[in-house]
Amino acid sequence: MLKPEIEDGQASLADPAFRADVLRGFEIRPRAIPARWFYDRRGSELFEAITDLPEYYPTRAETAILRRIAPEVAKLAGPGRAVVEFGSGSSMKTPLVLAAVAPAAYVPIDISGDFLRESSAALASAFPGLAVLPVEGDFMKPIALPNEIADAPKLGFFPGSTIGNMVPHSSVDLLRAMKASLGEGAMLLIGMDRIKDASILTAAYDDAAGVTAAFNLNLLERINRELGGTIPLDRFRHVARWNDDRARIEMHLEAQSDVDFTIEGHAFSMATGDTVHTENSHKYGLRDARILLRSGGWTPIADWTDEDEQFAVILAEAQPSRLAP
Ligand code: AVJ
Repeated sequence: MLKPEIEDGQASLADPAFRADVLRGFEIRPRAIPARWFYDRRGSELFEAITDLPEYYPTRAETAILRRIAPEVAKLAGPGRAVVEFGSGSSMKTPLVLAAVAPAAYVPIDISGDFLRESSAALASAFPGLAVLPVEGDFMKPIALPNEIADAPKLGFFPGSTIGNMVPHSSVDLLRAMKASLGEGAMLLIGMDRIKDASILTAAYDDAAGVTAAFNLNLLERINRELGGTIPLDRFRHVARWNDDRARIEMHLEAQSDVDFTIEGHAFSMATGDTVHTENSHKYGLRDARILLRSGGWTPIADWTDEDEQFAVILAEAQPSRLAP
């Protein structure tokens, strides 16, 4: 059998979707690789470290909001719902919700299998008697929910402003897909980061300790590791910039000199100053968020923010289709 010409057997085990996105990402202009590929084990750990940074306010702001509003959410949602978390990661905020809403089950969905299994085990022991039913997968693709929760009404949980990673039309696609998979009578508790002073935003994505830079650069390390790439990491620099036109923070990796490298035998060149676009993080004003949800078939029924109005948590219910003027 033909083997790829790579010493390290790992390369042949690489996710074919990762390989396809990376090869295509370096081919297209502007160069771009989907942000979801940040989250290998190391990337997930680096993201956890980001959430503790003094500059990275979203996690603290959202956690404070959730702690405060959990009883109110419980009242609005009622008991006995299956809580379905999209992109659960380490599930740090989940206990705040689970402790309040008297859930029928908890279904965390995540692309990082290791992380998913560890955090599911931790939650299961923190909530004895609660059915924890992890699903490993990409929540951007249609996902079959476990049969055990077929008849329970659902509460979708989508914290962290993860929706901000998508451009608006993809956000709407996702919201509609969530509505379809969560079914009739579903509710959705979602976090969205607010538009604010650009200096606060850029600091949050380019911290003094360089953790976000390491998080961004880990993508190139992952390409070298899993796809047998020869990208010279030390020639690249992390860039975070506010795109005011589109109300989003963009992360890029910028070549500091002309570079040539190969990925699985494919040759690529970048000139000094060329970038690979690695992430968007869209920010939403109060009304922007409401319009986005309605566009995706969800009716906002309550929204909350922190003292400094940095971050918002919104509870919405699946909009039944009916005639409108
Ligand atoms: C996990 C997508 C919410 O956009 O703020 C943090 C990821 N990137 N720092 C965000 C991230 C750089 C984060 N989300």
